[in-house]
Amino acid sequence: MDQAEQLRNIIKSQSRQRKVARVITVTSGKGGVGKSSISVNLAIQMSKLGKKVIILDADFGLANVEVMLGIRPRYNLADLLFKGKDIKDIITEGPKGIGFISGGSGIQELNHVSREQIIDLTHKLDEIDSITDVIIIDTGAGINDIVLEFVIASTETLLVTTPEPTSLTDSYALLKILDRKPEFSTTNSTIKMIVNRVESPAEGKELFNKFNVVVNTFLNNKIEYLGSIPQDSNVPKAIIQQKPYSILYPNSQSTKAIINLTNILCENTQEVQKRKGISQLFSNLIHSRR
Ligand SMILES: Nc1ncnc2c1ncn2[C@@H]1O[C@H](COP(=O)(O)OP(=O)(O)O)[C@@H](O)[C@H]1O
Ligand SMILES: [Mg+2]
Repeated sequence: MDQAEQLRNIIKSQSRQRKVARVITVTSGKGGVGKSSISVNLAIQMSKLGKKVIILDADFGLANVEVMLGIRPRYNLADLLFKGKDIKDIITEGPKGIGFISGGSGIQELNHVSREQIIDLTHKLDEIDSITDVIIIDTGAGINDIVLEFVIASTETLLVTTPEPTSLTDSYALLKILDRKPEFSTTNSTIKMIVNRVESPAEGKELFNKFNVVVNTFLNNKIEYLGSIPQDSNVPKAIIQQKPYSILYPNSQSTKAIINLTNILCENTQEVQKRKGISQLFSNLIHSRR
């Protein structure tokens, strides 16, 4: 092989390496703990770091991310699956250039897609992988099949909890269910806990430490601590104004906390090797249902 040929081979193999997006799934045991507001503000902060971010709303019951962003998407994932819409039709632009995709009924309907539709969907999702750095999936509360499937198919999950005892017991219940799923293991997926609505960072860390003792004693899977977000009246105030708090109140405690969490997540380079992208995630989701 001469030098020119070697060079051509290197270039060829590089272009064949598919670019995949970092997919972060946000979930919780109990509803109403702050998943959507965390997803939205995390997206804003990652976008400020120069990343192309898309939020996928997989909480099919409620359209709360749309409300928090003050946008109204025309199409959703179901239109991509069944109505021949393209990726660009279903991405709505939100503040700071973040993209938004509404799951709509598309996620439940994944059970009914044909082989051709699966191939078409994977191609379209490959396109999202190639144009996006980070995809944040906001799921519903975790103790239902669809959400569990998302967590199992994801390489990186943020588990949101609050200091309320019911939130902690529901977080534990979610981890316990995952522990019993043979297809789930924290060797391939990382679960990072965020404690929302704390009185102080020390409260969050202490809660995690106590929680983690129970997890380590009774479960096989491991969890990590990402950090906490304080109880802050600017959070509901921003929701009422339909704008992310980190834009409306840049100097608030909640904004400082989300910036800190974003920086920790973006410093983490270990996850790069584990990345599978959104196309692979959906392909796993569909296969787990057949
Ligand atoms: N850090 C916080 N401080 C004060 N209120 C909060 C905080 N995080 C969330 N909330 C409030 O909790 C409610 C639920 O938040 P949301 O993000 O919709 O949760 P989820 O998506 O988990 O259902 C909202 O009304 C919001 O104002
Ligand atoms: Mg929500």
